[in-house]
Amino acid sequence: MGLLGIGQTIILLCVIVPCLGSSSDDKATINITPKIYSNIFVRKREEHRLVRNHLRATESYEKQFALLKLAYEKILQIIQESRQVVSEDSVGKELPTNQTEMEALFLLLENTCLFGDLVLHMPDISYRVLEKMPKWREIIAWAWKMTMQHENVIDERTIEMLNLFNQEINEDQRSEDFVNPYRHSGANEATPEKPKETKKVRKKLKKGPQLAGGHRHNEL
Ligand SMILES: *[C@@H]1O[C@H](CO)[C@@H](O)[C@H](O)[C@H]1NC(C)=O
Repeated sequence: MGLLGIGQTIILLCVIVPCLGSSSDDKATINITPKIYSNIFVRKREEHRLVRNHLRATESYEKQFALLKLAYEKILQIIQESRQVVSEDSVGKELPTNQTEMEALFLLLENTCLFGDLVLHMPDISYRVLEKMPKWREIIAWAWKMTMQHENVIDERTIEMLNLFNQEINEDQRSEDFVNPYRHSGANEATPEKPKETKKVRKKLKKGPQLAGGHRHNEL
C-alpha cells in the first residue's frame, strides 16, 4: 500500500463499495424498479469509466499493478459476499423484493462490469495480477452468468462490453473474428520499467499451474 496515496485508494474503494448511504434502513421505503435502477446503473458506469481511465493513465507499472490488485481483491470479495445473499433464481425482469438481496444484486452487477472493464482495457497486466488469485475464474464465471441474466437493467454498451470480456478471458468461447479492441491501442498499459522486472514476470508466467499451490496466502 506504500505506493498508493490515501486519496486515490479511498476513491477507488468508494466506487467499488458505495461509501455513503449504503445503510439498508435509509432506502427501506424507496421502491426501486428496474427502470429506476437502469438509470442509476448508467451513472455508475460513468464512474467506472473514470476509474478505468485513471488507472490506464497511471504511468508507473508498479503503481498500476498495486491499484489493480487492490481493485480486483475488493471486487472479488464483494462478489463473494453478494453470492451468499443473492438467490440464484432471482432472475429475469423482476428485482428481488428483499432489500438486502436487492442491494447485494446491485453490487454484484456493478462490480462484475467494473471487473470486465478493467480486464478488457488492461489485459496483460491484469492477468499478471490475477494469477495470484487462483479462484477468480470461478467467481467471475458465476458473476458473469448472473449479470447476463439481468440484462433488462443493463445498457447496451455494457452488454457489448460483457460479451467482449467473456471472450477475452475464455479463449474457447471466442468467435472467429474476436479481437480485444483495447489490447494493442497504444499507451493503454504501463509497461514494466526495469528489464529485470520483465524477466521476473516472464519466469513466473511459465510456471503457471504451480502457482495455485505456492501462493495460498494470497488466495481469495
Ligand atoms: C432478506 O434476505 C436476507 C438474506 O437472504 C435474510 O437474512 C433476511 O431475513 C431477509 N429479510 C426478509 C424481510 O425477508
